[in-house]
Amino acid sequence: MSHPNIAIVGATGAVGREMLDILHRRNFPCGRITCLASPRSAGQVIEHALGTFTVQATTPESFKDVQLALFSAGSGISKSLGPVAAAAGCVVVDNSSAFRMDPAIPLIVPEVNPHHIPAAWIGTNRAGKPGCILANPNCSTIIMLVAVHPLYQAFGVERAVISTYQAASGAGAMAMEELRDQTRDVLDGKPAQPKIFKEPYAFNLFSHNSALDPVTGLNVEEQKMILESHKIWGEDSVRITAMCIRVPVLRAHCESINLTLKRDVTVADLHAALAKAPGVTIVDDRANNIFPTPLKASGGQEVLVGRIRLDPSQTPGGLNALAAATEAKPARSRGVELFVSGDQLLKGAAQNAVQIAELIFR
Ligand code: A2P
Repeated sequence: MSHPNIAIVGATGAVGREMLDILHRRNFPCGRITCLASPRSAGQVIEHALGTFTVQATTPESFKDVQLALFSAGSGISKSLGPVAAAAGCVVVDNSSAFRMDPAIPLIVPEVNPHHIPAAWIGTNRAGKPGCILANPNCSTIIMLVAVHPLYQAFGVERAVISTYQAASGAGAMAMEELRDQTRDVLDGKPAQPKIFKEPYAFNLFSHNSALDPVTGLNVEEQKMILESHKIWGEDSVRITAMCIRVPVLRAHCESINLTLKRDVTVADLHAALAKAPGVTIVDDRANNIFPTPLKASGGQEVLVGRIRLDPSQTPGGLNALAAATEAKPARSRGVELFVSGDQLLKGAAQNAVQIAELIFR
């Protein structure tokens, strides 16, 4: 059986809608595809290059004779039906946070830790193989790690300070609609009407909407970036902090990343490491001030990386030392900075999930 039957759970959602596309674009070997959602969407018809699909309500019976279940319907559905699908023999790739920190469940960024998938789970022939669950990491974490992991491997990372600029898509299709509606309303001179988010979204930005721990002051998104990165790296020595902000952008996240490496590097060293990194495209044109943007990243499968530079605050001699550098004597520092952008719905969600499935069904 080389072409697994596939169930997409949450097929009508922001991420679910991308699943068919990314399966198609990556030429994934698809058997029968079943599109599942809530009972509200049952009967809805999805026309796609891969076929015409009538959405069905998700039930425990939905996973019979399915080998791959791509879950993207929120933590509650994942918790209740993920184990049911795995018990029915499915490889479950779960986009929610339900299982990410479960020590028994691999949390995978294919460019970083494919080796965390047990060898016994891999193979197209599922006969005799039990079902299993794999977790897709948080979108900001994935996008950050695709860019930082090559530097971690080449130079070691001591500390990472990340500021995010996160799109509406991370909060689902309704949040994207809220941004569109509010933008129209405000331009028409009407007040913005917040529904999903507490704050007005059009022409505004605000601290990430996830729950905030009053003791530490970190919200759940910021905690995920720390805890998930450590799990994916398989070690917790890298000191990480994040400030996560929602910006009025539809579907690609940006992140400003400040690192302290374990050894001095030049900008050329950074370029060399990033140029050969899987999943990275360098967009770093200093002469023309052209760098990653959410619009450039939207719809693409790569994480765009730019503003590749040394951090004057971590360089002996500061800005003067950086300015005095020449080609013959380039500046060196352990402090480096990047600005990255990645499509939250693709690399941050659907694409990463399909890439995980590719590691299994190969
Ligand atoms: P539906 O469209 O029928 O509500 P998003 O992340 O964009 O908000 O999408 C959430 C996805 O999860 C949608 O496809 C949604 O389906 C699906 N979903 C919500 N509740 C359930 C449920 N009880 N069972 C299955 N799918 C659900």
